[in-house]
Amino acid sequence: MAAVAEDLRNPYRPHLATLEQVRPEGPGIMTFRAQFQDPAVAEAFHAKPGQFIEVSLFGVGECPFGLAKGPDRPGPLMFSVAQMGKVTSELHRLRAGDIIGIRGPYGNGFPVEEHRGKHLLIIAGGIGLPPLRSVVEYGLDHRDDYEQLTLVYGARSPELLVYKDALEEWSNDDRIDVHLTVDKGDETWTGHEGFVPQYCEELGFTPDNTVAYTVGPPIMIKFVIITLTQMGFGDDQILASLEAKMKCGIGKCGRCNVGPKFVCLDGPVFSYRELKALGEAQ
Ligand SMILES: Cc1cc2nc3c(=O)[nH]c(=O)nc-3n(C[C@H](O)[C@H](O)[C@H](O)COP(=O)(O)OP(=O)(O)OC[C@H]3O[C@@H](n4cnc5c(N)ncnc54)[C@H](O)[C@@H]3O)c2cc1C
Ligand code: FES
Repeated sequence: MAAVAEDLRNPYRPHLATLEQVRPEGPGIMTFRAQFQDPAVAEAFHAKPGQFIEVSLFGVGECPFGLAKGPDRPGPLMFSVAQMGKVTSELHRLRAGDIIGIRGPYGNGFPVEEHRGKHLLIIAGGIGLPPLRSVVEYGLDHRDDYEQLTLVYGARSPELLVYKDALEEWSNDDRIDVHLTVDKGDETWTGHEGFVPQYCEELGFTPDNTVAYTVGPPIMIKFVIITLTQMGFGDDQILASLEAKMKCGIGKCGRCNVGPKFVCLDGPVFSYRELKALGEAQ
């Protein structure tokens, strides 16, 4: 028993997990559901919305991915992977039944408990939705704790919108306001066209009792921050999750520093006030 507890505390040790489901989410994007093999590890694993895991593929490498499932939802861990390079390409070859390693959860996550009573304005772009899906599900599971829940989500094209089943479910759920957009539609698309920051401007949010959480490509985050600032949002009312090159995920290797901070340990979520102090915002 002591050995199990020791193993759980060892931050370098990946725990074996079996892929229960692997499904294509869109071009170049796959969603994985993984169950720890050791029930003690599964029971001890508790994540906050916005935290990430390090996923290892033995003999290939290790990468960070945002946890997509709400922390109160039962069942296997869920994460989605866009094909970028060596590890993500090999991950895309995996099928249900294959084994991976998982370390974590890591990072600070979004301060959802601190923001109880507020309007959560969730702004996602492309493959930025996975870590924010966990915020949406947390918000729905604790709906009475929040004044309002809003999701603005955009992708380059309709086929690149991830979690279409969940988007449809949320769009029919009057506990959350969902606004979808694509940079350019196709013949099937009848919704909004345009970039996420401009859509936020059109939707005309007010900063009253609101906090905005944003994850997406750096260029989207930059213009979302500009838009929200112009709308009167204060520096502590805007929080963004940063992507950085990572190795250890636990503040040891120095791969992810931004000034004196480690993105893996002090982030990946930072307020606009912190980003300005770190020189990470224009
Ligand atoms: C906290 C965090 C959460 C993340 N969550 C997700 C997620 O939910 N889904 C997802 O698909 N991806 C996510 N990523 C990005 C993902 O980790 C990288 O795409 C992955 O590590 C690339 O590995 P690779 O070996 O396939 O690519 P490599 O062969 O290492 O690199 C391929 C290309 O991608 C670039 N790249 C590699 N890593 C990063 C990075 N961290 N940020 C920006 N560019 C990078 C390289 O410069 C290179 O151009 C996250 C990253 C971080 C830091
Ligand atoms: S990834 Fe090693 S210090 Fe952050």
